[in-house]
Amino acid sequence: MGKSRTAPNPDIKPEQLLGGVSPETFLRDYWQKRPLLVRQALPHFSPPSKNPLGPDGLMRLAMREDAESRLVCQTRGRWTLEYGPFGAERLGALPRRNWSLLVSGVNLMLPYGDRLLQAFGFMPQARLDDLMVSYAPEGGGVGPHFDSYDVFLIQGHGRRRWEISGQNDLELVEGAPLRILKRFRPEQSWELEPGDLLYLPPKYAHNGVALDPCMTWSVGFRAPSSHEIASAFLDYRQDRLDLAGMYSDPDLTLPRHSAELTPQLLGRLSEMIQGARWTARDEADFLGTYLSEPKPHIFFEPPARPMGLKRFADRVASRGLRMDPRSKLLFIKGGAFFINGEAFRSPAGCRQALVRLADQRRLPAAPLPDALLRLFHDWYRAGYMWPAGEN
Ligand code: SIN
Ligand code: CO
Repeated sequence: MGKSRTAPNPDIKPEQLLGGVSPETFLRDYWQKRPLLVRQALPHFSPPSKNPLGPDGLMRLAMREDAESRLVCQTRGRWTLEYGPFGAERLGALPRRNWSLLVSGVNLMLPYGDRLLQAFGFMPQARLDDLMVSYAPEGGGVGPHFDSYDVFLIQGHGRRRWEISGQNDLELVEGAPLRILKRFRPEQSWELEPGDLLYLPPKYAHNGVALDPCMTWSVGFRAPSSHEIASAFLDYRQDRLDLAGMYSDPDLTLPRHSAELTPQLLGRLSEMIQGARWTARDEADFLGTYLSEPKPHIFFEPPARPMGLKRFADRVASRGLRMDPRSKLLFIKGGAFFINGEAFRSPAGCRQALVRLADQRRLPAAPLPDALLRLFHDWYRAGYMWPAGEN
């Protein structure tokens, strides 16, 4: 779709998020290199009218079965970690200070969270992971640590002191239930106010302590380890391996040593192994399915009473459509598209519209070609997308 690189969320401009630094400059000078503090990246982020998730709302999310939630408490220098979902009694019995409740995947449960994540649409979607939101009363935090991923920490309501360090000493406290740095030597420190943002590259040591009851919204990125991606690829190949034939040796002659693996035997068997070789296209197909695969705990909720194709077409023509926050739609230039772990080819003449949908995660109101409508209707019935204004 031409060269347009519009961020899907029109409310939040990348330059504003990055404090006047252009996304190009950010990627060149900061991304994976050094921290960036932006005062008032999201002005007015804190007032309840603008920020639809307060401490009570976060606690309600932490009670949900489909949420990944954690509770970190610090008592007399000892850390404890509990995993959700949490009951109302547990959340009602928390002390006044020194704990933190963290909920991951908030972009999947809260439309505003999805829109906030989309504001980072200047980054490749395959790198974006999720939005985590934490709440902590005074003194709360998760201790000095480092993350393996890039993170944008956005201050919601309240104030938090962030101390950071580019130290190379990343040794962790042994036996602690969460990753706490044995020796943390802060080099810089700031008090973040509502709407401020702090970007940290991977492995940058940091410690955030709530100065008053506060919420932090963390936009995290994903980066598979070499081992993870290669072993997932071998699993994928294994599932698709279907080789014909079997070893045979009608030309066998009497061996000198019955225990010897002869060059003939080894050569013939290694030719059989060569049948498992793969091409660059196999790798690309795997990567498209792997990177578009939703996390294992994610389930789509198809419409209870789906509309028929004709009504769906009218609705899309008059309202447009949007992807479900759980859906991932990716593509390879000139090649396949991938939705939620499955590869498909674009119907003839529809590539441009599919690329636009993948980039912006929505399409404006307009009549669509029949082939595309049928494809979208299938996705709608699977819960992958919705006519705008539905659900
Ligand atoms: C938090 O929200 O308290 C933790 C964020 C982080 O340190 O990565
Ligand atoms: Co962290």
